[in-house]
Amino acid sequence: MCGIVGYIGTQQAAPLLLEGLTRLEHRGYDSAGVAVVGGSGVKLAKKAGRVRDLSEGLPKRFGGKIGIGHTRWATHGPANDVNAHPHTDEAGQVAVVHNGIIDNASALRAELADAGVTLASDTDTEVLAHLIGASSANTLEKRVAEALARVEGTYGIAVVHADFADRIVVARNGSPLIVGVGDHEMYVASDLAAVVRYTTTVAHLDDGEMATVTASGFTTYRIESTGLAATDRRANKVDIDPAAYDAGDHESFMHKELLEQPARAEAVLRGRLDERFGTGHLGGLNLDARELRAIRRVKILGCGSAYYVGQMGASLIEELARIPADAEAASEFRYRNPIIEPDTLYIAVSQSGETIDTLLAVQEVHRKGGRCIGLVNVVGSAIAREVDGGIYLHSGPEVAVASTKALTNMYLAFAMLAVQLGRVRDLSISDGKRLIAGLTAIPGQIEEVLATEPQLAVVAKQLAQAESLFFIGRVRGFPVAREGAQKFKEITYRHAEAYQTSELKHGPLALISTEVPTVAIVPDDELVERNVAALHEIAARGGPLTVITHASVDLGDLAGKVERIDVPRNERELDPILLTIPLQVLSYHAALTLGHDIDKPRNLAKSVTVE
Ligand code: AGP
Repeated sequence: MCGIVGYIGTQQAAPLLLEGLTRLEHRGYDSAGVAVVGGSGVKLAKKAGRVRDLSEGLPKRFGGKIGIGHTRWATHGPANDVNAHPHTDEAGQVAVVHNGIIDNASALRAELADAGVTLASDTDTEVLAHLIGASSANTLEKRVAEALARVEGTYGIAVVHADFADRIVVARNGSPLIVGVGDHEMYVASDLAAVVRYTTTVAHLDDGEMATVTASGFTTYRIESTGLAATDRRANKVDIDPAAYDAGDHESFMHKELLEQPARAEAVLRGRLDERFGTGHLGGLNLDARELRAIRRVKILGCGSAYYVGQMGASLIEELARIPADAEAASEFRYRNPIIEPDTLYIAVSQSGETIDTLLAVQEVHRKGGRCIGLVNVVGSAIAREVDGGIYLHSGPEVAVASTKALTNMYLAFAMLAVQLGRVRDLSISDGKRLIAGLTAIPGQIEEVLATEPQLAVVAKQLAQAESLFFIGRVRGFPVAREGAQKFKEITYRHAEAYQTSELKHGPLALISTEVPTVAIVPDDELVERNVAALHEIAARGGPLTVITHASVDLGDLAGKVERIDVPRNERELDPILLTIPLQVLSYHAALTLGHDIDKPRNLAKSVTVE
């Protein structure tokens, strides 16, 4: 949440900062600001709204070759011009941008106010600017370290100072920061997306690390109680195509990412399917067959869509490996003093690898001696570095706030893991081969589902008219319904509630009417007759129905009275992902019909790095 960018070099900073902020906007988009250090000290411009609002209002004389910028997702205080970052001290000498939360901000604000400091904003960040401004240490690094020593919480910060006009000082604790190396110019950012057009040679700071960035290079230190101890962090080339961060001809990143799914699904499966022995080949787990065999329970931890795909994963693992498995919202996990068992495998699931609740859940597992692997998309992210092994998702950068291609690859990673866990137990080689063949077919079948987009767009237009909807499914289909409702809520702002089909008549059926459509997940599986019976119960009460199903399912006299979307058949166990894809497309087109900003839904941000 929130994005940081900084530049120091031979060019004017402001245009580069604004470009970087535009690339970071998915991380927070309620206000933005920049500070540059020029001839007359620190100049500041900040504005509620989008980066384009900031850009349009930028003074003509905003020159300077050193600068920092920020795009905000509000935590302390509303989204307005004053609360936007950067924040400054009273003299306007220091400017600070900050991601994360300063937990003891109230106490520090009170202390500063008692000392006669006028606090301009409602934010936690502002205290840092005043603390740095008040320090008389002989270097900016020491001033920043002194201020950080007073602070409890998480931060990624970038600081400029009029009296140290040859450098940007950055520091990290729990919120990512990278330094990008250019030609006689340097960048800092919270995310590669901000700088990838200018450089792909970057250094990732560790928690507790600080860097001094000048036009000619950077030096790093560990912040210790006794002072700053030099570290030897180096920048490395990252293998990424900058075009992956462009929407290209698509009207939104979400649309681009939806259509990328077949290729990205192939990427996650590539080299990981063992057709001969009918198993998965997941070297990154760092677990040999004996260790896999010793696992007695699996606990999956993730947030939002990652939690729902975790439920799909738990069901795969129980079904294929017969190991008790469940998923839990990582945001709740550590608050109930969880029992961590040595023969349980914990699995953290996260696209960004930055979600603080998931990261803290992993740390809780580790604190109590548990083993945790990760299903993570962003290489080198905090969760990827924290876990004991895992599976990278190879989805490529996902920019739209609504997760699509990463979620699909999470599912496929779970499927490979479940087959591998099963094959060291009682899953037969023929079942293993059957499932590996099923997985191999999935990219092509996703392509087939995406080809039904025109039909889905028509159905979506109708669904977009409803104020409230149900998404229903059973057993394997229930997490699909949960994910469908989540996606619909997230980008259409309609009330969408997921329910087990079997539970409908125990209460929520009372809400069914001609005004409340239901999207039903009805695969051709062992529950099909019961699911179709439930459809009749809904139809009998006038409820409009959209049924995501297989061509082999006979809807009887409901045929022609419901919207029917058929997805290709795969192995039953692997049905959920093909049933999920149409729900993504429905949400996308419903949001498009409603004219929403699809990539940046209101109130949300791509990476949730605050608790
Ligand atoms: C997905 O569409 C959502 N934007 C959200 O629920 C997301 O899945 C969740 O915040 C977890 O993010 P992560 O995968 O980066 O950890």
